[in-house]
Amino acid sequence: MRPISPVVISALLPLPILAKDHTFPSSLKLQEALNHYSVESSSLLKRALLSAGFHPDETLEIDDTYLDFATRALRSEKKRLDRLLEAKKTLQAEAQEQQQCNAETKQCKDPKLSSEFGHFLTPPLQPGQAELLRWDDDHSVVQPYAARVGLPEKLLPTLIDYVDRMGLLDIMKNMLYDDPLPPDGDKWFTFQSPYEEGPIKRNFTWNVERPAKKWKSDMHWFNVADELAHEDSLRALAKGGFDEVLNAIGEQFHLDSLHVDSVGFVAVTNCERGFIHTDWEEVDGRAFNFLIGIQSPEEAGPELVIESGRKGEVYYESNAGVLVGDGTRHGTRECDHRQTRGVRITASIYLADLTENNLKVAAGDTTSIFPPTGDEEWIWAQRGRHWSKDGDRSLVNDLGRKELNVRDEFKDCLKLTQNGECKGNTEERSGCLKTCKVYVHDDEYKPGVSRKEIFGY
Ligand SMILES: *[C@@H]1O[C@H](CO)[C@@H](O)[C@H](O)[C@H]1NC(C)=O
Repeated sequence: MRPISPVVISALLPLPILAKDHTFPSSLKLQEALNHYSVESSSLLKRALLSAGFHPDETLEIDDTYLDFATRALRSEKKRLDRLLEAKKTLQAEAQEQQQCNAETKQCKDPKLSSEFGHFLTPPLQPGQAELLRWDDDHSVVQPYAARVGLPEKLLPTLIDYVDRMGLLDIMKNMLYDDPLPPDGDKWFTFQSPYEEGPIKRNFTWNVERPAKKWKSDMHWFNVADELAHEDSLRALAKGGFDEVLNAIGEQFHLDSLHVDSVGFVAVTNCERGFIHTDWEEVDGRAFNFLIGIQSPEEAGPELVIESGRKGEVYYESNAGVLVGDGTRHGTRECDHRQTRGVRITASIYLADLTENNLKVAAGDTTSIFPPTGDEEWIWAQRGRHWSKDGDRSLVNDLGRKELNVRDEFKDCLKLTQNGECKGNTEERSGCLKTCKVYVHDDEYKPGVSRKEIFGY
């Protein structure tokens, strides 16, 4: 049986809670049913009064007793309806909540999460708090060097402001649509520091590369391409409070020291198949890639896949970064943002606690154009400059690398590089490190002097 529309009653006594007004199908004899209800309820009232022991005169419809009793009966019927409506509302809210949220963990299910992937616990983190990544079902650790780290509030705005003022943000947002590289292609940019003051600003270089076709993605990697660009990006990290992140990582993994080895950004609009890989292996658990989501298209789902036995998908959060370290297999989550001209941009920050054991592997990294692959001298000169377990070192009070004998290996570098050979992954560039300004000469670099003084921010 269908419920009688409460509108009938609310005409007599306004209901505080109104049920949704149904429109009943016209095939039903609604008016007849209401008439029937009305007749039956007046005789029901009479019978109720008689059974209570009232005098038959008092059951006449004009009698005060009848009217009083009828009003009371109606009031209590109205209360019953109110309770029913309230109970129904609660049930609906609970059902809705159960669909999206787990009452115990307070984690709500996101319709963009795929059942093909495992998922991780993502408890809220304080800035500078690191936690190993764990599976959300059995709470087991995913991999010994995969973690989430809470970000200082100013980190993301500082990094975005930095690449914006340099002109890089605009390029990253538009290049993949307007002027994409072919697979295996590269391009070089000259920028100036947003932090440098004075009339003459130094130039430094960034480059962008697109990986080979087998990556099945239009991913473009933007990276610092010389030491001046590298040093300048370190000032942005210092300004953004990245010391808190370094400290969290150093303590979590019981490291001795850390330095930031390279800074870059990955931009992608379309990724058919994530290429699962490791950034570091056999580094004694002392080299990492820290990933920070810079921007994501609004409708985007999870962005990163981490694999350890099974694949799990995870978002980059605005207040936490994802750390992948020694042997952590990971890759980009399949994505396609081309409908909305969306671009996903992620910062990738390489870190290392350098030891004699892992020096060769750390120096041999081929991911980025800078630092040049295999230059053990340069990377050793960076050792421990940004964090130490005794708390002496930091990005904010960075004194720079150790001395470096910057020299050209080739003769005639001026001639060899006059047609732009410095701006390319060329033999001339690696043979003419001084002429190509891949490194900053110590006369200008001034090792041991506060970087704040040399570069500002
Ligand atoms: C920076 O590059 C521009 C354009 O190539 C050049 O005109 C300028 O002199 C350079 N600045 C310095 C300080 O070298």
